Amino acid sequence: MNPILMEHVTASFNAKPVDLPVIAVTGGKGGTGKTSVAVNLVAAMTGTGHRVLFVDADVDSPTAAIVFGIPQELAERVEIFVPRILDTKCNGCGKCAESCRPHALIQIAGKQPMFFEELCSGCEACKLVCPLQAIGEGKRVIGYVHRGTRGDLSFIGGELKPNEARSAQVVTAAKDAAFAQARTASYDVMIVDTSPGTHCNVVQALRGADLALAVTEPTPLGAHDLTLILRLISMLGIPSKVVVNKADLPGAQIQLISEIANSYGNEIIMQIPVDKSLFESYVAGEPLVTTHPNTAAAQSIAKLADAVTRLFPVR
Ligand SMILES: Nc1ncnc2c1ncn2[C@@H]1O[C@H](COP(=O)(O)OP(=O)(O)OP(=O)(O)O)[C@@H](O)[C@H]1O
Ligand code: SF4
Ligand code: SF4
Ligand SMILES: [Mg+2]
Repeated sequence: MNPILMEHVTASFNAKPVDLPVIAVTGGKGGTGKTSVAVNLVAAMTGTGHRVLFVDADVDSPTAAIVFGIPQELAERVEIFVPRILDTKCNGCGKCAESCRPHALIQIAGKQPMFFEELCSGCEACKLVCPLQAIGEGKRVIGYVHRGTRGDLSFIGGELKPNEARSAQVVTAAKDAAFAQARTASYDVMIVDTSPGTHCNVVQALRGADLALAVTEPTPLGAHDLTLILRLISMLGIPSKVVVNKADLPGAQIQLISEIANSYGNEIIMQIPVDKSLFESYVAGEPLVTTHPNTAAAQSIAKLADAVTRLFPVR
């Protein structure tokens, strides 16, 4: 039920080039409130004097900077390798097409291979196997990394280009940019907002995290997806806590969530009630903890920030 990858695998996966606490805000299900929690956690921490590097790793749907009203500028284009077949060198042997798992290269006997760019993963296998060095290096932009600042808060966000599928590579680029920035400036903590689900871009978003906060709703669907994300987090060897958002929904199944958390040696660290002012804070481009600091939800998030800060040494 609870497989754990070998210790050296998780150690290598979670190794990071900077000594900075990293907290990932995640949750299997879409729309549970990950971004709301992440943004408000960041605001609560900056509000208590912490220097925060905030990373939006939800590259399919990056909204955190908008919710926060952070102006963004382009930091880098995320590119992958694409093969450029050199007509003068290629003899049509077909070895590149044989080695191409996503079938981005198709060989018709005796002819030079045809290339279907949208299928290419950029793995470079074709270039490696070509016996005549007939494959040159091209590049394709699949996404962007943006940067921004607002007061003491620094922001880095990934964005997948429309119609591109390789979101994990964009997340990797955003995380690398964040780790690089963390080496050149002084931060107390990095907070990462992830996509919903448990696929490879979420795995990349979790890379290097010291703590994962799994945000869930107290519903049967929330419980189902919580199980999936806790399983992934535990496989990756990352400590985690559960945050129940919209905890006072009618029929809320807090006990069920608690049992699932316990089955992974985990616990509920905070319950956040439904709060209609969240919508107003979205419209205002300001976090709830700033616009409505006295609401029950804002106070729960402030307590969450405090609890997280105590869990491990956020400087
Ligand atoms: N405690 C809450 N009370 C009321 N509304 C909430 C609460 N938490 C989140 N919401 C609302 O739920 C919606 C989804 O929230 P949010 O974008 O934070 O979820 P998400 O998990 O990041 O979604 P996605 O999976 O798409 O990234 C938003 O409209 C937000 O305002
Ligand atoms: S880079 Fe990889 S996926 Fe792309 S064409 Fe070459 S072998 Fe196929
Ligand atoms: S492996 Fe090289 S030489 Fe052979 S078909 Fe591909 S590009 Fe041409
Ligand atoms: Mg989100």
